Amino acid sequence: MSGRSAILIVGGYGQVGREVARLLAPRFPGAVIIAGRDRAKAEALATRLGHGTRAMGLSLPLRGEPPPLKGVGLVVMCLDPETLDLAECCLAAGVDYIDVTAKQESLDALERLEPLARRSGATAVLGVGVAPGLTNLLAARAHAGFEHVERMDLFLMLGGGDAHGAAAIGWTLDNLDRVFTVQQDGRPHEVRSFREHEVVRFPGLPRTRKAWRFNFPDQRMVARAFSIPSVSTWLCFDSALLTAGMRLAARVGLSWLLRVPALRRGVMRVLGACRLGSDVCRVLVRAEGRLGGHPATREFAFEGRREAELTALVAAEAARWLLAGHRPGGVLALERFVTPGPFLRRLEESRPGLQLWMGSV
Ligand SMILES: NC(=O)c1ccc[n+]([C@@H]2O[C@H](COP(=O)([O-])OP(=O)(O)OC[C@H]3O[C@@H](n4cnc5c(N)ncnc54)[C@H](OP(=O)(O)O)[C@@H]3O)[C@@H](O)[C@H]2O)c1
Repeated sequence: MSGRSAILIVGGYGQVGREVARLLAPRFPGAVIIAGRDRAKAEALATRLGHGTRAMGLSLPLRGEPPPLKGVGLVVMCLDPETLDLAECCLAAGVDYIDVTAKQESLDALERLEPLARRSGATAVLGVGVAPGLTNLLAARAHAGFEHVERMDLFLMLGGGDAHGAAAIGWTLDNLDRVFTVQQDGRPHEVRSFREHEVVRFPGLPRTRKAWRFNFPDQRMVARAFSIPSVSTWLCFDSALLTAGMRLAARVGLSWLLRVPALRRGVMRVLGACRLGSDVCRVLVRAEGRLGGHPATREFAFEGRREAELTALVAAEAARWLLAGHRPGGVLALERFVTPGPFLRRLEESRPGLQLWMGSV
């Protein structure tokens, strides 16, 4: 291998990272490097995947260590590091960067690296995954079909029987009882996780579900990107019992107790092992506005299995675009980096069991 053709997957043996590696290794033989704090785990996965996949021991933050970017052309970040030192090194060195984070603070900090990326010609793609990710793409596609959108609701149904990684569970617990801002009637409005709900019927399901407010960053990204007066994201699980349990935990203020490290570790272990329901992952975007001069409502949806796998599928497809030479430069949200309609259709066709509804729900 020569030049900068290596793809460094950080958090590469985690739930999301290992799926990204599994998708990219056969497509880019000899290029994939799996990185994480436990080199032995990275090596075991690299051996299992084959196709010349390599392993690297890497602990973030770098704490003054030189960035491991020799020969690397693309970094796929599959964890939420404490600092963005590696991202900064990538963008300073002209190395492309994909981030799956759902943490608002990380997204904001990454956006501030835009001038660095512009100077070096690197491209960073943010909001890659399910929410943010698929929800943003569906929102962009929905928005394009309207003359004016007044309100958009983004719904996510997670499978209670899905295997979620420690980082993803940690993020959910951190946001369990969070006060956060949404855009409502054109103004910032403070709300709290799991306090209000909206009713949704996902395609193919016989009955409606209650979905609850949750602090996904996609609602703010979409409101800002498309200047929509009201945008909210709503979460439910396929298991009504799990949805009720999470709601109760939020109501009784479990997040306070979870600041005790031992308790948090215990709850994370239980949630990591708990299987209540299927591994389905559904997203639906409902847009309300004006179409052909008349009030209209349209719904766009995507369905698959395993949130981590869908996140990885989106990340691998974004990687494919970058590695095919689509490198506009700068820091871009996924829906600005790709053309949403064709990207979503390609995802749907990439494997059996994925289904896309474009305004026809
Ligand atoms: N956008 C979306 O829709 C979406 C969906 C799902 C997940 N996510 C995000 O994806 C990320 C990964 O989630 P996941 O479920 O894959 O989590 P995970 O299974 O816990 O994986 C995290 C990986 O990072 C490694 N790691 C942790 N801390 C590290 C450090 N300081 N330095 C180097 N490596 C480190 C872990 O291995 P070691 O601990 O052995 O180092 C592990 O391999 C999270 O940020 C999550 O919020 C986004």
